[in-house]
Amino acid sequence: MKQSEAKARINKLRREIEEHNHRYYVLNQSLISDFEYDILLNELSTLEKTFPEFIIDGSPTGTVGSDITNEFEQYEHRYPMLSLDNTYSEEELREFDARIKKATSESIEYVCELKFDGASISITYKNGVLFRAITRGDGNKGDDVTLNIKTIKNIPQKITNKTIPVEFVIRGEIVMTRAVFNKLNDERIKAELHPFANPRNTAAGTLKLLDPRIVASRPLECLVYFLLAEELPHDNHFDNLKEASGWGFSVPDSIRLCRNIDEVFQFISYWESEREKLPYDIDGVVVKVNSLSLQEELGFTAKSPRWAIAYKYKAEEASTMLLSVTFQVGRTGTVTPVANLEPVLLSGSTVKRATLHNADQIALLDLHLNDMVYVEKGGEIIPKIIGVDHSFRNETSKKIEFISNCPECGTPLIKNEGEANHFCPNYLHCPPQLKGRIEHFISRKAMGIDGLGEETIDLLFSNNLIRNFSDLYDLRLEQLVTLERLGEKSASNILKSIKKSIETPYHKVLFALGIRHVGETVAKTITGRFRTIDDLINADPEQLTSVREIGPKIAASIVAYFADKENLEIINRLKSNGIKFSDDKETRLTGNSLHDKIIIISGLFHKYSRDEYKEMIEKNGGKNATSVSGNTTFILAGENMGQSKKEKAKELGVPLINEIEFLKMIGED
Ligand code: IVH
Repeated sequence: MKQSEAKARINKLRREIEEHNHRYYVLNQSLISDFEYDILLNELSTLEKTFPEFIIDGSPTGTVGSDITNEFEQYEHRYPMLSLDNTYSEEELREFDARIKKATSESIEYVCELKFDGASISITYKNGVLFRAITRGDGNKGDDVTLNIKTIKNIPQKITNKTIPVEFVIRGEIVMTRAVFNKLNDERIKAELHPFANPRNTAAGTLKLLDPRIVASRPLECLVYFLLAEELPHDNHFDNLKEASGWGFSVPDSIRLCRNIDEVFQFISYWESEREKLPYDIDGVVVKVNSLSLQEELGFTAKSPRWAIAYKYKAEEASTMLLSVTFQVGRTGTVTPVANLEPVLLSGSTVKRATLHNADQIALLDLHLNDMVYVEKGGEIIPKIIGVDHSFRNETSKKIEFISNCPECGTPLIKNEGEANHFCPNYLHCPPQLKGRIEHFISRKAMGIDGLGEETIDLLFSNNLIRNFSDLYDLRLEQLVTLERLGEKSASNILKSIKKSIETPYHKVLFALGIRHVGETVAKTITGRFRTIDDLINADPEQLTSVREIGPKIAASIVAYFADKENLEIINRLKSNGIKFSDDKETRLTGNSLHDKIIIISGLFHKYSRDEYKEMIEKNGGKNATSVSGNTTFILAGENMGQSKKEKAKELGVPLINEIEFLKMIGED
C-alpha cells in the first residue's frame, strides 16, 4: 500500500471506529457486531505499525471508548480503567502465554473468568462504606452513578469485615439477566413501547438513567472481577477475589485457577458450550496472570494490561443465500430494508429474514442479489447480515440498490442531512403511515381507546370507514355491526371507548396527533408553554425555539405540520367532536401523591415557575420547606441550584428530583 493510500485509509478507519465507539458507549445502540468492530480496529493497528509516521495521540488504538454523557457529575478514577486486549484465535492466546513465559522463570498461574457482557463499574469504599460509583467513562474519568448503583441489591453498602483495607476499589460488570430482560420487554411490548435490543444495552442504558427509582424497578446485578487498594489482603488476584466474596460481593463461582495454558483452553471450550445455560450473556473468557508481582512486572500498554487478555467467542453465525431485499415503510414513514434469505438454522431457530438497517449498511456490505451472506444472531432480536462471502459471487448478479420511491405509495423518498434513514414524506396518504398514525392515536399513552387493535383498524380502513383518526368520531353502530368478525357487543364497546377518549387531556391529544419529533415529553413541554392549540398553530419558529427543549428540528416539524391544510381540517373536526385542545391544569395537577412529603425547591425551572411548583406541592398534599435537613424527602432541583444545598443534600443522602420527574410524580404523564 502506498503511503498516501495508507494515510487516507487510517483516517477513514479512525473516523468509523470513533463513530462506532459513540454508538456503543453513549447511545447503547451499535450497528456492527463486536467481531466486525475488532476487525476494523485490527486493520488500523496493523496500518499504524507499518506506517508509524501516522500514529497520533488519541487514536482509537491507544484510547478507550468513552461512555461520558454530561448528565452526571464526573470524577477521576484513582486507578485508570483500562480495556483488554482481544483475540478470537487460539494461536494468539498461545502467543500471549509465550510472552508471559518470557518474563519469568517461575511457573505461571492464570485466573480464568467469564467475560460478562454489560457495563463496567468502579466502586470506591471508605471505612467499609460505599462512597462513590463511577462508570468507565474515558478510562481516566467517568460518570458518577452512585445513586443508581445503590439500588442494586447484590452490592453491599456497608461492610463490617475486619480484613477490609481502609479504602478500596471494587470493579465489576453491571449486568441484567436474560430472564429480567425478557420480562421487561414483554411489559414494554404490552405497553406499546419499543422493545430493548439486548440485555447488555439495557443494563448500560439503565445505569445511566437519571431517576434511581426506575433503575430500582429494573433489577440489575454486579459481578465482581477486580479488587484494588494500596494494600491488598493477598499477593494474588484469585485470593483477593475470594476475599472480596467473603465481604459480601458477588464473585462468580465460575472463576478458575489454571496452572498452564492447556487448562485455560479447557475452561474456554467448557464455557463455549455451557454458556447458554448461564442466566447472563457472556461474550468470552478473560485470562489474567494470577501473581500480582508478575502483573506489576509486565505492566501496561496505553490501553490495556499486558498481563491479561480476552478470548472472545464469535456470536453464532450461519451463511445463507440472499434471495431478495424488500423495503418496509413504518408508521413514521421510515423505510427499512429487509433481507429475505434462504431459510437457515441459527441458534436453535430458523431464520428467513434479517435487517439491513439503512442504505449506508447496504453500501458498506456492497450487497448483490444471490450473494452468500453471513447472518448473525447476537443479543439482537432480529438477526442481521454481518458480511458477504465474495468468493461465491456470480459476476452477473445485480447490485442491491436502495429504492428511490416509496414502495407503498410511489412518492419519491427523502433522506435528511445527518440522518441515516430514508423516509416517505407523503404522511397524509401513504397507507402504512395513515394506519400507523391511527394506531398511534388510539394507543394507551395517547388517546387510550380500548378495543381497537391493529386488525380492527385494518378492517375499518379496508372498508373505507376511516381515512384518518378524526373519522373515528363519526363511526356509527350500524356501520360496525355489518363488518365481519365484529359482534354487536364489541362494536358498542369500541364506540363507548371512542366517546370516552374525549376526556383525554390536551398534552396527550397533542402527542396523539403524531407530529414528527413531538414525543410524550415534548408534547408536555409544549402544552406547558402554549396553553391552547391556536397559540401553538400561530407560533413562529422563534417563539417555539425559545422553549428550552425545542430545537430547530422540532420547531420546523411543528410549523410544517400546521402549515398543512388537511391537518388543520382534522384538528377542526376533532375540536367539533369535543376533543380538548387547551390545558386545564387546575384539575390535572391536584391529588394526594405528595402526602406528608417535605420538599425543597431550588434552582431555575423551565416548565412552570417556582410559585406554580409551590402551589402544586401544596395541592398534592406536600409541604414546601426552605432548608435542607434530615427530614427533607427530596429537593425539586432546577438548573444552577445552590452549591451549599447540593452539598448538604449529598451529605444527608437527600435525593434530587428534576421538574420532569416531579411532574410525573404528581400524575402529569
Ligand atoms: S478485567 C484491566 N474481567 O470487559 C482489566 N473485565 O474490554 C480490565 N469485562 O471494561 C478488566 N468481564 O467491562 C475484566 N471478568 C472480567 C470481565 C471484564 C467483563 C469487561 C469490562 C471491561 C471490558 C474490557
